[in-house]
Amino acid sequence: MTSLQNDTFLRALMRQPTEYTPVWMMRQAGRYLPEYRESRKTAGSFMQLCQSPTFATEVTLQPLDRYPQLDAAILFSDILTVPDAMGLGLYFEEGEGPKFERTLQAEADILKLEVPDMAKLQYVFDAVSSIRKALNGRVPLIGFSGSPWTLATYMVEGKGGTDFLNTKKMGYARPDLLHRILDITAQTVIQYLNAQIAAGAQAVMIFDSWGGALSHDAYIEFSLNYMQKIVAGLTKTAEGNTVPSIVFTKGGGLWLEQQAAIGADALGLDWTVNLTQARQRVGDQVALQGNMDPAILLSAPAAIEKEVARILASYGHGHGHVFNLGHGITQWTPPEHAACMLETIRALSPQYHL
Ligand code: CP3
Repeated sequence: MTSLQNDTFLRALMRQPTEYTPVWMMRQAGRYLPEYRESRKTAGSFMQLCQSPTFATEVTLQPLDRYPQLDAAILFSDILTVPDAMGLGLYFEEGEGPKFERTLQAEADILKLEVPDMAKLQYVFDAVSSIRKALNGRVPLIGFSGSPWTLATYMVEGKGGTDFLNTKKMGYARPDLLHRILDITAQTVIQYLNAQIAAGAQAVMIFDSWGGALSHDAYIEFSLNYMQKIVAGLTKTAEGNTVPSIVFTKGGGLWLEQQAAIGADALGLDWTVNLTQARQRVGDQVALQGNMDPAILLSAPAAIEKEVARILASYGHGHGHVFNLGHGITQWTPPEHAACMLETIRALSPQYHL
């Protein structure tokens, strides 16, 4: 394998010295880019992009070709490939977000749930190897999965936008059934992420997008405990290098101390958190990734520059910060506004690393 030309992102995740603050953007390959919309049209659909290693490679590299400041690539795929492989039948309806043909609500269906054969996800692992080859050592490649709780909300509800009421009801009325779903999903995620690492992923991120909807105790019981099991089961080194892990609970800012203790290398933060306070709360246990509100990219260059400066200053001097958005970049973002953010980070961040 080619050695990495830019390992700034990996060093920051391990809280090692870097010359500037590295950056990548959640959903950096997506609909805000005209070249992505073009590729999606050619492929036919979002899922066809994901299922073809050639298309997945093409769109993964689009933001890197456009923005030389990006310090990481992220596998182009979706968290919902896992419940799809578990037999739930994922589909997308134009403009409506993801849906499943079947839901997991009946006890008999939940008892039948099994860890799927990883061969069903071979297209993801093929995409990882293809992207690694195409990157040729430019920047590291991030692999990812949804958290068991976040995946369970889609499996139980069958779609997004339901306030997770069926999933929460199951957690309170039949915790044994929800735990069974979460346990099997956690075992699946361990195999899935380790197969991505074996195929060439150099860091992994667990997206717990809906963990913030839970009460304190329910978050620990239904979300954090399973992410802890996953982190414990991850391959820690590959090709002679550490494979760092990032845990991101959107809306999870109240529980940073608990998150910092599960053994991951870094925590993802949304924009509700102040980085000075977050850093004090987690000490030197983990690196921090975040946390600009993606809505700022809809505003104007002067506001974007000011916000980048504020976020860098709020983390302050020293290493262990990966700049990112607090959630995915929106499809209405003008691409030149993302460029403005990335250029400003590169211009202003070196002073914090002296
Ligand atoms: O960050 C990246 O660039 C990598 C690709 C990536 C996608 N989805 C591509 C995608 C990643 C890491 C995800 C994760 C994902 N998917 C999450 C967790 C992160 C988060 O956003 O909270 C969740 C909850 C999903 C489920 C999902 N997939 C939803 C709710 C939607 C529809 C909403 C939307 O933004 O359209 C998707 C579709 C999806 N996943 C798109 C992309 C680029 C848009 C598909 C399109 O081209 O129409």
